[in-house]
Amino acid sequence: MRYAIVLGAAALVAASPAPQAFDLNGLDALATLTQGPPVGVGPAQETAYVQGSARAQAAAAATGAATAQAAKRSLNESVTSTTSTSTVAPTTTSAAVGTQTTKAPSTTDGVVPSSCTPVDWVNTYAFTSDPACPTSIEVGTYCGFINPDDPCAPQPAGKGTPPKDDTVDGFYNNAEYKQLAVSAKTPTGYQQAFVNLQGAATGNGYISYKTLDSYDVASCSQFCDDTDTCTGFNVYIERDPKWNPHQCSCTNPPSIINYKCSIWGQNVSKDTATNTGEGRDDFTVVITGSNGYNKGTYTPPTPPSCSKPQSCDNKIHDQPRYCMGQKTFPGPFDPSLCAAYAQKQNEVNRAKGLIGAFLSMFGMNKGGCVQFQAAYLEKAGKGFGTHCRLFTKKFTPQQATFDISIGGTSGWGCQKSYTWDVDVNASFNWGLSWKN
Ligand SMILES: *[C@@H]1O[C@H](CO)[C@@H](O)[C@H](O)[C@H]1NC(C)=O
Ligand SMILES: *[C@@H]1O[C@H](CO)[C@@H](O)[C@H](O)[C@H]1NC(C)=O
Ligand SMILES: *[C@@H]1O[C@H](CO)[C@@H](O)[C@H](O)[C@H]1NC(C)=O
Repeated sequence: MRYAIVLGAAALVAASPAPQAFDLNGLDALATLTQGPPVGVGPAQETAYVQGSARAQAAAAATGAATAQAAKRSLNESVTSTTSTSTVAPTTTSAAVGTQTTKAPSTTDGVVPSSCTPVDWVNTYAFTSDPACPTSIEVGTYCGFINPDDPCAPQPAGKGTPPKDDTVDGFYNNAEYKQLAVSAKTPTGYQQAFVNLQGAATGNGYISYKTLDSYDVASCSQFCDDTDTCTGFNVYIERDPKWNPHQCSCTNPPSIINYKCSIWGQNVSKDTATNTGEGRDDFTVVITGSNGYNKGTYTPPTPPSCSKPQSCDNKIHDQPRYCMGQKTFPGPFDPSLCAAYAQKQNEVNRAKGLIGAFLSMFGMNKGGCVQFQAAYLEKAGKGFGTHCRLFTKKFTPQQATFDISIGGTSGWGCQKSYTWDVDVNASFNWGLSWKN
C-alpha cells in the first residue's frame, strides 16, 4: 500500500569491532534501506529522516563500557564483555519515525468517468462510520473525502500539463519538459550534478520530499537550505495516473503531471538517479527532466561540547589501538549521530569510573573518547550511512590515510570525513533540543 510508507531512516548498525580496519562483510550484509520519495501519487509531503530519534538510536549504540586497546592492559578487570574488541553481530533497527501530509482529493473533482467503477472491492475502512463526520457518510469516503488509495479514487491534481500525446513516449518526447530542465538556473551556492535524466535520485541519504507548484529549482534549494543535514536536492517531473487504476474497471487512466522535489544528505549524482518509475496496472509511471544539485561547499555543523572540526577529505583514521568503538548508521550524513554516540559512551564509561582514573596529558584519555570521526560511506555511488569512530587520542587530518575505496571492487567509498574533538566530561543531553 503506497500510503503506508515504512519510514525507517536511520537504522542502527553495530559494525565491526575496532581492531578491523573496515568490516566490508558486516556492512555488505546489511539490507539497504528503501529510501527515496514514493513513486506515483503519494502524500504531498513526507519527512523520512527525523534527527532527534536518529540521535537517540545512535546514543543507544553505547551499550556498555568501551575502551581502546592501548588502555586494555591496565583495565582488564573493569571492562566487561562489551568492550570494543567484542564481536557484535550487525543488527538493523528502524529508528526515525517520519511525518507525512496527505491532501485527500475531493469527491467533487468529477474527473473519473461514471463508467469507471470499483471491481471486486469491499470497503473495509472502519472510519466510514466515524460519528464525528459532520455530513452523511458515503461508502469509500472519510467524511466526504475520498481515500486516494481506493479503487478509481481521483488523485490529487498535478500542477503540470500532460502532453497532447498522453503516452509514455509522448511524455518522454515533450519539448516543454526538456526545456524546463535544461534551462533551469543553478541556485547560488549549488553545483549542478546532472540535467534532464529519466530517473529520480535514490539512496539511504534520503531526507524528505514535497510536490511543487511548478518546476521550481529555487524553491527546492530553499527546502534544502531550511533542512538540517541537507547537502543536495533533486527536482523532476513525474507522469502519474489521474485516478487509482488498481481494482478499478478503467486500468489505464489519463495522466496527471507532478513536479517533485526531494532533498538528500548524500551526494546527488548520476549514479543515484535510478528510480525510473513503475507500472500501476495498465498505467506506467515514468520520470523525466530530473536535475540534481549539491551544495558547493558544505561545512557540517559542530555539535554541542564538540570543537575543532577538521576535514580528512575522503580518508579515515585507521588507529585500532586508540579506537574505543565504531558504528555505522544508515541514513543521511549526520555527524551529530557520532557526537551522540561518543558522548553517551563517555557517560557510560564515567559511570564505571573509567574516565577519571585515566585522565592524562598529551590529548589522550585512555578511558574516554576525546576525538571522534564522522565519515559518510557510499555503496555503488549511492549514499549509505554515517560511519563513526571514537578515539582515545587526538589525530591530525594528515594521519588519516585509510582509503576504503582502494581495490575498487567492493563498491564502497567515502564521500566526506571529519573529526571533532569532544569534551570528555560532556553528556549527551541535547538529542531533541539542538538544531544544526
Ligand atoms: C590483567 O589480566 C592479566 C591476565 O589475566 C593479569 O595477569 C594482570 O595482572 C591484569 N592486570 C591488572 C592491572 O590487574
Ligand atoms: C558528487 O557528485 C558529483 C556529481 O556527480 C561529482 O562530481 C563529485 O565528485 C561527487 N563527490 C563526491 C564526494 O563523491
Ligand atoms: C573533566 O573533569 C575532570 C574532573 O572534574 C577535570 O579534572 C578535567 O579537567 C575535565 N576535563 C575537561 C576536558 O574539561
